Amino acid sequence: PGGEGAATPAPQSASGQIGVDGWAEPGGESARVAVSSPVGTDTIAFHGPRQAGIDTPAQTHAVFLAFDLRENADRDAIGRMLRLLTDDAARLTQGRATLADTEPELAAAPARLTVTFGFGPELLRRVAPDRAPAWLRPLPAFERIDELDEAYCDGDLLLQICGDDPMSIAHARRMLTKNARAFAQPRWAQTGFRAARGAHPNGTTMRNLFGQVDGTANPRPETAPSERLVWGARAQGDASEPTRLTPWIEDGTSLVLRRIRMELDTWDELDRPAKEQVIGRRLGTGAPLTGEREDDPVDLEATGPTGFPVISDVAHVRRARLDGPDAGMLRRGYNYDDAGESGLLFAAYQCDVDAQFVPVQERLAESDHLNIWTTPVGSAVFAIPPGCPEGGYIGQQLFD
Ligand code: HEM
Repeated sequence: PGGEGAATPAPQSASGQIGVDGWAEPGGESARVAVSSPVGTDTIAFHGPRQAGIDTPAQTHAVFLAFDLRENADRDAIGRMLRLLTDDAARLTQGRATLADTEPELAAAPARLTVTFGFGPELLRRVAPDRAPAWLRPLPAFERIDELDEAYCDGDLLLQICGDDPMSIAHARRMLTKNARAFAQPRWAQTGFRAARGAHPNGTTMRNLFGQVDGTANPRPETAPSERLVWGARAQGDASEPTRLTPWIEDGTSLVLRRIRMELDTWDELDRPAKEQVIGRRLGTGAPLTGEREDDPVDLEATGPTGFPVISDVAHVRRARLDGPDAGMLRRGYNYDDAGESGLLFAAYQCDVDAQFVPVQERLAESDHLNIWTTPVGSAVFAIPPGCPEGGYIGQQLFD
Protein backbone atom coordinates (compact mmCIF):
# COMPACT_ATOMS: atom_id res chain seq x y z
CA PRO A 1 0.00 0.00 0.00
CA GLY A 2 1.27 3.47 -0.83
CA GLY A 3 0.02 6.83 0.31
CA GLU A 4 -3.45 6.17 -1.00
CA GLY A 5 -5.12 5.43 2.38
CA ALA A 6 -7.24 8.34 3.40
CA ALA A 7 -8.19 9.44 -0.09
CA THR A 8 -9.36 6.04 -1.23
CA PRO A 9 -13.11 5.51 -1.03
CA ALA A 10 -14.24 2.58 1.06
CA PRO A 11 -15.73 -0.29 -0.89
CA GLN A 12 -19.32 -1.34 -0.41
CA SER A 13 -19.37 -3.50 2.71
CA ALA A 14 -21.24 -6.77 3.02
CA SER A 15 -23.85 -5.01 5.13
CA GLY A 16 -24.49 -2.39 2.48
CA GLN A 17 -24.14 0.31 5.09
CA ILE A 18 -20.96 1.87 3.76
CA GLY A 19 -21.65 4.10 0.80
CA VAL A 20 -19.49 3.86 -2.32
CA ASP A 21 -18.21 7.31 -1.50
CA GLY A 22 -16.63 6.00 1.70
CA TRP A 23 -19.20 7.42 4.07
CA ALA A 24 -21.22 5.33 6.45
CA GLU A 25 -24.73 6.15 7.51
CA PRO A 26 -25.09 4.30 10.77
CA GLY A 27 -28.28 5.98 11.82
CA GLY A 28 -29.67 5.78 8.33
CA GLU A 29 -30.47 9.51 8.36
CA SER A 30 -28.32 12.55 8.97
CA ALA A 31 -25.30 10.92 10.62
CA ARG A 32 -22.51 10.54 8.06
CA VAL A 33 -19.23 9.09 9.22
CA ALA A 34 -16.05 8.86 7.17
CA VAL A 35 -14.73 5.30 7.18
CA SER A 36 -11.38 4.46 5.69
CA SER A 37 -10.86 1.16 3.90
CA PRO A 38 -10.17 -1.64 4.64
CA VAL A 39 -9.49 -1.88 8.39
CA GLY A 40 -12.66 -0.11 9.43
CA THR A 41 -15.07 -1.54 6.92
CA ASP A 42 -14.07 -5.20 7.07
CA THR A 43 -16.75 -7.41 8.54
CA ILE A 44 -16.86 -11.02 9.72
CA ALA A 45 -20.17 -12.78 9.08
CA PHE A 46 -22.22 -13.13 12.25
CA HIS A 47 -24.79 -15.69 11.11
CA GLY A 48 -23.80 -19.26 10.40
CA PRO A 49 -23.71 -22.74 11.92
CA ARG A 50 -20.80 -21.81 14.18
CA GLN A 51 -20.11 -18.64 16.12
CA ALA A 52 -17.38 -16.37 14.81
CA GLY A 53 -14.42 -15.41 17.00
CA ILE A 54 -12.93 -18.90 17.37
CA ASP A 55 -11.73 -20.00 13.93
CA THR A 56 -11.60 -16.34 12.88
CA PRO A 57 -8.01 -15.13 12.34
CA ALA A 58 -7.45 -13.36 15.65
CA GLN A 59 -8.19 -9.66 15.67
CA THR A 60 -5.93 -7.14 17.40
CA HIS A 61 -8.07 -6.42 20.47
CA ALA A 62 -10.33 -8.45 22.72
CA VAL A 63 -12.48 -7.92 25.75
CA PHE A 64 -13.88 -10.91 27.59
CA LEU A 65 -16.96 -9.88 29.59
CA ALA A 66 -18.55 -12.13 32.19
CA PHE A 67 -21.99 -11.49 33.67
CA ASP A 68 -23.95 -12.84 36.63
CA LEU A 69 -27.60 -13.57 35.94
CA ARG A 70 -29.99 -11.69 38.17
CA GLU A 71 -31.87 -13.82 40.63
CA ASN A 72 -35.19 -13.27 38.86
CA ALA A 73 -33.86 -14.08 35.38
CA ASP A 74 -35.72 -17.31 34.68
CA ARG A 75 -35.70 -19.46 31.56
CA ASP A 76 -38.06 -17.16 29.63
CA ALA A 77 -36.18 -14.05 30.62
CA ILE A 78 -32.88 -15.60 29.57
CA GLY A 79 -34.46 -16.44 26.20
CA ARG A 80 -35.52 -12.81 25.79
CA MET A 81 -32.05 -11.61 26.74
CA LEU A 82 -30.38 -13.92 24.22
CA ARG A 83 -32.72 -12.77 21.46
CA LEU A 84 -31.98 -9.15 22.26
CA LEU A 85 -28.21 -9.56 22.54
CA THR A 86 -28.09 -11.68 19.38
CA ASP A 87 -29.84 -8.93 17.47
CA ASP A 88 -27.41 -6.34 18.84
CA ALA A 89 -24.38 -8.48 17.99
CA ALA A 90 -25.67 -9.25 14.49
CA ARG A 91 -26.05 -5.53 13.77
CA LEU A 92 -22.88 -4.25 15.40
CA THR A 93 -20.62 -6.83 13.77
CA GLN A 94 -21.93 -5.73 10.37
CA GLY A 95 -21.37 -2.03 11.05
CA ARG A 96 -24.99 -1.23 11.85
CA ALA A 97 -26.30 0.57 14.90
CA THR A 98 -28.36 -1.36 17.44
CA LEU A 99 -32.02 -0.53 17.93
CA ALA A 100 -32.13 2.66 19.98
CA ASP A 101 -28.36 3.02 19.67
CA THR A 102 -27.43 6.22 21.47
CA GLU A 103 -24.13 6.60 19.58
CA PRO A 104 -24.85 5.14 16.14
CA GLU A 105 -21.74 6.79 14.70
CA LEU A 106 -19.59 4.46 16.77
CA ALA A 107 -21.04 1.44 15.00
CA ALA A 108 -19.91 2.53 11.55
CA ALA A 109 -16.44 0.96 11.49
CA PRO A 110 -16.73 -2.57 12.89
CA ALA A 111 -13.16 -3.53 11.90
CA ARG A 112 -13.77 -7.28 11.95
CA LEU A 113 -15.81 -7.07 15.14
CA THR A 114 -17.02 -10.43 16.45
CA VAL A 115 -19.20 -11.18 19.47
CA THR A 116 -19.01 -14.75 20.75
CA PHE A 117 -21.46 -15.97 23.41
CA GLY A 118 -20.54 -18.45 26.12
CA PHE A 119 -22.72 -20.03 28.81
CA GLY A 120 -21.64 -20.73 32.37
CA PRO A 121 -23.01 -23.54 34.57
CA GLU A 122 -25.75 -21.43 36.15
CA LEU A 123 -27.22 -20.38 32.79
CA LEU A 124 -27.47 -24.01 31.69
CA ARG A 125 -28.97 -24.94 35.05
CA ARG A 126 -31.77 -22.43 34.58
CA VAL A 127 -32.39 -23.10 30.89
CA ALA A 128 -31.74 -26.77 30.13
CA PRO A 129 -30.14 -28.68 33.02
CA ASP A 130 -30.39 -31.98 31.18
CA ARG A 131 -28.34 -30.55 28.29
CA ALA A 132 -25.47 -29.24 30.45
CA PRO A 133 -22.18 -30.89 29.51
CA ALA A 134 -20.50 -32.76 32.37
CA TRP A 135 -17.37 -30.63 32.04
CA LEU A 136 -19.20 -27.34 32.55
CA ARG A 137 -17.96 -26.46 36.04
CA PRO A 138 -14.96 -24.67 37.51
CA LEU A 139 -11.67 -26.45 36.82
CA PRO A 140 -10.23 -28.51 39.66
CA ALA A 141 -7.85 -26.54 41.87
CA PHE A 142 -4.21 -26.70 40.77
CA GLU A 143 -2.76 -26.00 44.19
CA ARG A 144 0.88 -25.97 43.21
CA ILE A 145 0.43 -23.08 40.78
CA ASP A 146 -2.93 -21.34 41.23
CA GLU A 147 -3.25 -18.00 42.99
CA LEU A 148 -6.77 -17.35 41.83
CA ASP A 149 -8.44 -14.02 42.46
CA GLU A 150 -12.21 -14.37 42.47
CA ALA A 151 -12.41 -11.09 40.60
CA TYR A 152 -11.32 -12.99 37.47
CA CYS A 153 -13.16 -16.28 37.93
CA ASP A 154 -16.34 -17.96 36.70
CA GLY A 155 -19.50 -16.25 35.42
CA ASP A 156 -22.94 -17.19 34.06
CA LEU A 157 -22.73 -15.53 30.63
CA LEU A 158 -19.66 -14.65 28.61
CA LEU A 159 -19.44 -12.17 25.77
CA GLN A 160 -16.11 -12.37 24.01
CA ILE A 161 -15.79 -9.26 21.87
CA CYS A 162 -12.88 -9.11 19.42
CA GLY A 163 -12.00 -6.60 16.72
CA ASP A 164 -9.25 -4.60 15.11
CA ASP A 165 -10.45 -1.27 16.52
CA PRO A 166 -10.88 -0.64 20.26
CA MET A 167 -13.55 1.96 19.45
CA SER A 168 -16.02 -0.49 17.95
CA ILE A 169 -15.25 -2.91 20.78
CA ALA A 170 -15.93 -0.27 23.42
CA HIS A 171 -19.20 0.62 21.72
CA ALA A 172 -20.30 -3.00 21.43
CA ARG A 173 -19.35 -3.58 25.04
CA ARG A 174 -21.45 -0.65 26.17
CA MET A 175 -24.51 -1.50 24.05
CA LEU A 176 -24.47 -5.17 25.03
CA THR A 177 -23.93 -4.44 28.72
CA LYS A 178 -26.74 -1.89 28.66
CA ASN A 179 -29.17 -4.27 26.99
CA ALA A 180 -28.20 -7.15 29.28
CA ARG A 181 -28.74 -5.00 32.36
CA ALA A 182 -32.31 -6.06 33.10
CA PHE A 183 -31.21 -9.71 33.13
CA ALA A 184 -27.56 -9.79 34.18
CA GLN A 185 -24.92 -7.63 35.78
CA PRO A 186 -21.23 -7.36 34.91
CA ARG A 187 -18.99 -9.68 36.90
CA TRP A 188 -15.57 -9.07 35.36
CA ALA A 189 -14.00 -7.69 32.20
CA GLN A 190 -10.58 -8.62 30.85
CA THR A 191 -8.96 -6.76 28.02
CA GLY A 192 -6.20 -8.06 25.80
CA PHE A 193 -4.25 -7.28 22.66
CA ARG A 194 -2.04 -8.71 19.97
CA ALA A 195 0.13 -7.07 17.31
CA ALA A 196 -1.73 -4.42 15.31
CA ARG A 197 -3.39 -5.49 12.12
CA GLY A 198 -0.91 -5.10 9.28
CA ALA A 199 2.15 -4.98 11.56
CA HIS A 200 3.17 -8.46 10.35
CA PRO A 201 2.20 -10.51 7.29
CA ASN A 202 -1.18 -12.24 7.56
CA GLY A 203 -0.92 -15.65 9.16
CA THR A 204 2.08 -14.75 11.37
CA THR A 205 1.83 -16.59 14.70
CA MET A 206 1.33 -14.20 17.60
CA ARG A 207 3.99 -13.35 20.17
CA ASN A 208 3.32 -13.16 23.89
CA LEU A 209 4.95 -10.62 26.22
CA PHE A 210 7.91 -12.95 26.88
CA GLY A 211 8.60 -12.48 23.17
CA GLN A 212 7.83 -16.11 22.39
CA VAL A 213 6.08 -17.22 19.23
CA ASP A 214 2.88 -18.59 20.77
CA GLY A 215 0.31 -20.69 18.90
CA THR A 216 2.48 -22.73 16.53
CA ALA A 217 1.16 -26.18 17.44
CA ASN A 218 -2.48 -25.19 16.93
CA PRO A 219 -4.94 -27.09 14.76
CA ARG A 220 -5.51 -25.05 11.58
CA PRO A 221 -9.13 -24.00 10.96
CA GLU A 222 -11.15 -26.23 8.67
CA THR A 223 -8.78 -29.17 8.88
CA ALA A 224 -9.60 -32.63 10.22
CA PRO A 225 -7.76 -32.01 13.55
CA SER A 226 -9.67 -28.77 14.09
CA GLU A 227 -12.98 -30.48 13.32
CA ARG A 228 -12.16 -33.25 15.74
CA LEU A 229 -10.54 -31.30 18.55
CA VAL A 230 -12.47 -28.04 18.56
CA TRP A 231 -15.85 -28.74 17.06
CA GLY A 232 -16.20 -32.38 17.90
CA ALA A 233 -17.62 -35.26 16.00
CA ARG A 234 -19.88 -34.09 13.26
CA ALA A 235 -20.83 -36.26 10.33
CA GLN A 236 -17.59 -36.10 8.38
CA GLY A 237 -17.06 -37.01 4.77
CA ASP A 238 -13.87 -38.83 5.65
CA ALA A 239 -14.79 -41.86 7.77
CA SER A 240 -11.13 -42.81 8.23
CA GLU A 241 -10.69 -39.92 10.70
CA PRO A 242 -11.38 -41.05 14.26
CA THR A 243 -14.20 -39.01 15.76
CA ARG A 244 -14.24 -40.10 19.37
CA LEU A 245 -14.71 -36.73 20.96
CA THR A 246 -18.30 -35.68 21.03
CA PRO A 247 -19.32 -32.05 21.30
CA TRP A 248 -21.85 -31.10 23.94
CA ILE A 249 -24.00 -29.79 21.16
CA GLU A 250 -23.43 -29.89 17.43
CA ASP A 251 -21.27 -27.01 16.19
CA GLY A 252 -20.58 -25.89 19.75
CA THR A 253 -17.35 -26.00 21.72
CA SER A 254 -15.96 -24.88 25.08
CA LEU A 255 -13.72 -22.09 26.29
CA VAL A 256 -11.28 -22.25 29.16
CA LEU A 257 -10.07 -18.76 29.97
CA ARG A 258 -7.11 -18.58 32.34
CA ARG A 259 -5.65 -15.23 33.32
CA ILE A 260 -1.94 -16.00 33.72
CA ARG A 261 0.38 -13.39 35.20
CA MET A 262 3.87 -13.32 33.68
CA GLU A 263 6.89 -12.08 35.67
CA LEU A 264 8.68 -10.05 33.03
CA ASP A 265 11.34 -8.71 35.41
CA THR A 266 12.66 -12.07 36.55
CA TRP A 267 12.25 -13.51 33.05
CA ASP A 268 14.61 -10.78 31.82
CA GLU A 269 17.33 -12.12 34.10
CA LEU A 270 17.68 -15.16 31.82
CA ASP A 271 19.89 -15.06 28.74
CA ARG A 272 18.44 -16.08 25.39
CA PRO A 273 19.60 -19.72 25.38
CA ALA A 274 18.11 -20.19 28.86
CA LYS A 275 14.83 -18.63 27.75
CA GLU A 276 14.73 -20.96 24.76
CA GLN A 277 15.31 -23.99 27.01
CA VAL A 278 12.28 -23.12 29.11
CA ILE A 279 9.95 -23.62 26.15
CA GLY A 280 12.00 -25.88 23.88
CA ARG A 281 11.71 -23.47 20.97
CA ARG A 282 13.79 -20.57 19.66
CA LEU A 283 12.80 -17.01 20.38
CA GLY A 284 13.59 -15.61 16.94
CA THR A 285 11.82 -18.08 14.69
CA GLY A 286 9.74 -20.14 17.07
CA ALA A 287 11.48 -23.23 15.62
CA PRO A 288 11.87 -26.22 17.93
CA LEU A 289 15.38 -26.60 19.38
CA THR A 290 15.56 -29.72 17.22
CA GLY A 291 14.75 -27.87 13.95
CA GLU A 292 15.29 -24.75 11.89
CA ARG A 293 11.83 -23.51 10.95
CA GLU A 294 8.74 -22.71 12.99
CA ASP A 295 6.74 -25.59 11.54
CA ASP A 296 9.50 -28.20 11.81
CA PRO A 297 8.44 -31.16 13.95
CA VAL A 298 9.37 -31.17 17.63
CA ASP A 299 11.72 -34.12 18.23
CA LEU A 300 11.41 -35.04 21.89
CA GLU A 301 13.76 -38.00 21.49
CA ALA A 302 16.77 -36.06 20.18
CA THR A 303 19.83 -35.94 22.45
CA GLY A 304 22.76 -33.53 22.42
CA PRO A 305 26.52 -34.25 22.48
CA THR A 306 26.45 -34.97 26.22
CA GLY A 307 23.57 -37.41 25.90
CA PHE A 308 20.98 -35.15 27.50
CA PRO A 309 17.70 -34.48 25.66
CA VAL A 310 17.88 -31.37 23.45
CA ILE A 311 14.40 -30.42 24.67
CA SER A 312 14.60 -30.74 28.45
CA ASP A 313 12.35 -32.91 30.60
CA VAL A 314 10.65 -29.83 32.00
CA ALA A 315 10.40 -27.79 28.78
CA HIS A 316 6.91 -26.40 28.26
CA VAL A 317 6.40 -28.00 24.83
CA ARG A 318 7.31 -31.44 26.19
CA ARG A 319 5.03 -31.14 29.22
CA ALA A 320 2.12 -29.59 27.28
CA ARG A 321 2.12 -32.26 24.57
CA LEU A 322 -0.04 -35.34 24.96
CA ASP A 323 0.02 -38.12 22.41
CA GLY A 324 -2.91 -39.37 20.42
CA PRO A 325 -5.36 -38.12 17.82
CA ASP A 326 -7.72 -36.77 20.49
CA ALA A 327 -5.09 -34.66 22.26
CA GLY A 328 -4.90 -30.96 21.59
CA MET A 329 -6.81 -27.70 21.79
CA LEU A 330 -7.06 -24.41 19.95
CA ARG A 331 -5.18 -21.68 21.81
CA ARG A 332 -6.27 -18.15 20.86
CA GLY A 333 -4.96 -16.00 23.67
CA TYR A 334 -4.44 -12.29 24.11
CA ASN A 335 -1.72 -10.40 25.96
CA TYR A 336 -2.63 -8.08 28.80
CA ASP A 337 -0.75 -5.25 30.41
CA ASP A 338 -2.85 -3.62 33.14
CA ALA A 339 -1.81 -1.46 36.04
CA GLY A 340 1.63 -2.95 36.48
CA GLU A 341 0.62 -6.55 35.82
CA SER A 342 1.43 -8.29 32.55
CA GLY A 343 0.39 -11.66 31.30
CA LEU A 344 -1.65 -13.76 28.98
CA LEU A 345 -5.40 -14.17 28.72
CA PHE A 346 -4.93 -17.82 27.86
CA ALA A 347 -8.01 -18.86 25.88
CA ALA A 348 -8.33 -22.50 24.83
CA TYR A 349 -11.21 -23.97 22.83
CA GLN A 350 -11.83 -27.71 22.78
CA CYS A 351 -14.89 -29.91 22.49
CA ASP A 352 -14.36 -31.56 25.88
CA VAL A 353 -12.68 -29.72 28.75
CA ASP A 354 -12.23 -32.83 30.90
CA ALA A 355 -10.75 -34.94 28.12
CA GLN A 356 -8.53 -32.33 26.48
CA PHE A 357 -7.74 -29.40 28.75
CA VAL A 358 -7.60 -30.78 32.30
CA PRO A 359 -5.00 -33.53 31.63
CA VAL A 360 -2.64 -30.98 30.07
CA GLN A 361 -3.12 -28.46 32.87
CA GLU A 362 -2.53 -31.25 35.41
CA ARG A 363 0.76 -32.18 33.76
CA LEU A 364 1.85 -28.55 33.61
CA ALA A 365 0.92 -27.96 37.26
CA GLU A 366 2.99 -30.99 38.22
CA SER A 367 6.05 -29.81 36.36
CA ASP A 368 6.74 -27.16 33.74
CA HIS A 369 9.84 -24.95 33.71
CA LEU A 370 7.61 -22.02 32.72
CA ASN A 371 5.85 -22.17 36.12
CA ILE A 372 8.72 -20.20 37.68
CA TRP A 373 7.65 -17.11 35.73
CA THR A 374 3.89 -17.65 35.32
CA THR A 375 0.99 -17.74 37.80
CA PRO A 376 -2.68 -18.42 37.02
CA VAL A 377 -4.71 -15.67 38.70
CA GLY A 378 -8.09 -16.17 37.02
CA SER A 379 -10.03 -19.12 35.67
CA ALA A 380 -13.39 -19.63 33.97
CA VAL A 381 -15.08 -22.31 31.87
CA PHE A 382 -17.88 -21.68 29.38
CA ALA A 383 -19.88 -23.77 26.94
CA ILE A 384 -19.88 -22.10 23.53
CA PRO A 385 -23.19 -22.76 21.79
CA PRO A 386 -23.48 -23.01 18.00
CA GLY A 387 -24.09 -19.99 15.80
CA CYS A 388 -27.52 -19.10 14.46
CA PRO A 389 -29.12 -18.36 11.11
CA GLU A 390 -30.63 -15.00 10.28
CA GLY A 391 -33.83 -14.66 12.29
CA GLY A 392 -32.60 -17.12 14.92
CA TYR A 393 -30.76 -16.43 18.15
CA ILE A 394 -27.77 -17.81 19.98
CA GLY A 395 -28.73 -20.61 22.35
CA GLN A 396 -32.05 -21.27 20.59
CA GLN A 397 -31.40 -25.04 20.50
CA LEU A 398 -31.69 -25.10 24.29
CA PHE A 399 -35.17 -23.59 24.19
CA ASP A 400 -36.67 -25.80 21.47
C1 HEM B 1 2.87 -24.44 23.50
C2 HEM B 1 3.68 -20.33 25.93
C3 HEM B 1 0.37 -21.65 29.22
C4 HEM B 1 -0.74 -25.48 26.52
C5 HEM B 1 3.40 -23.23 23.89
C6 HEM B 1 4.47 -22.53 23.23
C7 HEM B 1 4.68 -21.37 23.90
C8 HEM B 1 3.75 -21.34 25.00
C9 HEM B 1 5.68 -20.29 23.57
C10 HEM B 1 5.24 -23.04 22.00
C11 HEM B 1 4.68 -22.60 20.70
C12 HEM B 1 3.33 -23.13 20.40
O1 HEM B 1 3.15 -24.27 19.98
O2 HEM B 1 2.39 -22.37 20.63
C13 HEM B 1 2.84 -20.33 27.04
C14 HEM B 1 2.82 -19.29 28.05
C15 HEM B 1 1.88 -19.67 28.95
C16 HEM B 1 1.33 -20.95 28.54
C17 HEM B 1 3.67 -18.04 28.04
C18 HEM B 1 1.45 -18.96 30.22
C19 HEM B 1 1.55 -17.66 30.40
C20 HEM B 1 -0.23 -22.80 28.76
C21 HEM B 1 -1.32 -23.47 29.43
C22 HEM B 1 -1.63 -24.55 28.65
C23 HEM B 1 -0.72 -24.56 27.53
C24 HEM B 1 -1.99 -23.02 30.71
C25 HEM B 1 -2.70 -25.59 28.86
C26 HEM B 1 -3.14 -26.00 30.01
C27 HEM B 1 0.13 -25.51 25.47
C28 HEM B 1 0.08 -26.52 24.43
C29 HEM B 1 1.15 -26.24 23.57
C30 HEM B 1 1.80 -25.05 24.10
C31 HEM B 1 -0.94 -27.64 24.29
C32 HEM B 1 1.54 -27.02 22.31
C33 HEM B 1 2.47 -28.13 22.69
C34 HEM B 1 2.87 -28.93 21.47
O3 HEM B 1 2.11 -29.84 21.11
O4 HEM B 1 3.92 -28.64 20.89
N1 HEM B 1 2.98 -22.48 24.98
N2 HEM B 1 1.95 -21.31 27.37
N3 HEM B 1 0.12 -23.48 27.64
N4 HEM B 1 1.17 -24.65 25.25
FE1 HEM B 1 1.60 -23.04 26.34
